[in-house]
Amino acid sequence: MKTVYSAIQPSGDLTIGNYLGALRNWKKLENDYRCIFGVADLHAITVRQDPEKLRERSKKLIAIYLANGLDPKKSIIYVNSHVPEHAELGWALHTYTSLGQLNRMHQFKSKIKDNEERANAGLYCYPVLMAADILLYDTDLVPVGDDQKQHVEITRDIAERFNGIYGDTFVMPEPLIGKMGNRIKSLQDPTIKMSKSDPNPAAYILLLEEYKDIKKKINRAVTDSVGEINYSEDQPGVSNLLEIYQSCTDENMEDILSKFEGKGYGDLKKAVIEAVENSIGPVRDKTNEFLQNEDYLIEVAHDGMIRAREVASKTLERVYEKIGFLRGM
Ligand code: TYM
Repeated sequence: MKTVYSAIQPSGDLTIGNYLGALRNWKKLENDYRCIFGVADLHAITVRQDPEKLRERSKKLIAIYLANGLDPKKSIIYVNSHVPEHAELGWALHTYTSLGQLNRMHQFKSKIKDNEERANAGLYCYPVLMAADILLYDTDLVPVGDDQKQHVEITRDIAERFNGIYGDTFVMPEPLIGKMGNRIKSLQDPTIKMSKSDPNPAAYILLLEEYKDIKKKINRAVTDSVGEINYSEDQPGVSNLLEIYQSCTDENMEDILSKFEGKGYGDLKKAVIEAVENSIGPVRDKTNEFLQNEDYLIEVAHDGMIRAREVASKTLERVYEKIGFLRGM
């Protein structure tokens, strides 16, 4: 059985971008693959976090995974810092990664814009830790949004370099990027992606946002003065709304466009509000239910940790053996 690995950082409240671009697709894989889903808290500390909030968000993310329908008996759901092998393999992989490779990472470049002095080394080396996450589990497929594609590519490069030196050690992972919703844009600036770290809350819709706020934000979403509903690069705001609608309803774009032919932006927004609410409303309600049962969340994370470590420790041992560390003590 092939293996699927993915993770989300508990670094802020999730947006519908995280949901439509990644999380929603995970459930569909659970029956056909060995699935492993992490709460990437080790990544989250590359930006300073409030300790209590970080703990709360990690717990909330487990609740969201479960509310999304993931079955903890099938999928391994765990918190990355509970599995020390991530940091250990991460360290080793740093020595097989060149500075040139890291310098080419778009996400780092955009995150340090105007802020190079304050960026920490962890942020720079982040893709190496992500490579460790993926390679530890002999992952075949990594279901992510489009913004993570480059990180999966560097993972492959690192694996290839290691395999080239020591012979087959790591499985080569492939990104699995959904056709729809893989890059949901900001509602205020549809040329950039919707992000949970955007300073303007009107730019994103949170996964757990209440209906009245969803309505307010979509009604305020930037459109244009064309006055026609087209899916085109020249109308990024309208196209983003269409894409959100498409991802939430699973309808195809041609049908959607004919449905809105001759209609105005107000009609489109109204339909998007309903589609978003129908899609995320049930996840919001179930997340709140799971959050009432903290013992269960801890139990899921504990069981996930044991199962994750079983796999991760074997991979790390294989790697340490190849590198030439003294073993068998
Ligand atoms: P993160 O936490 O930023 O985002 C989680 C997932 O959501 C997707 N995503 C989006 N998809 C569509 N439109 C958007 N606007 C949007 N914003 C975010 C991301 O592509 C991602 O799939 N480095 C990862 C976390 C990670 C990871 C891993 C992922 C750590 N280790 C190993 C895969 C495998 C990250 O920061 O995702």
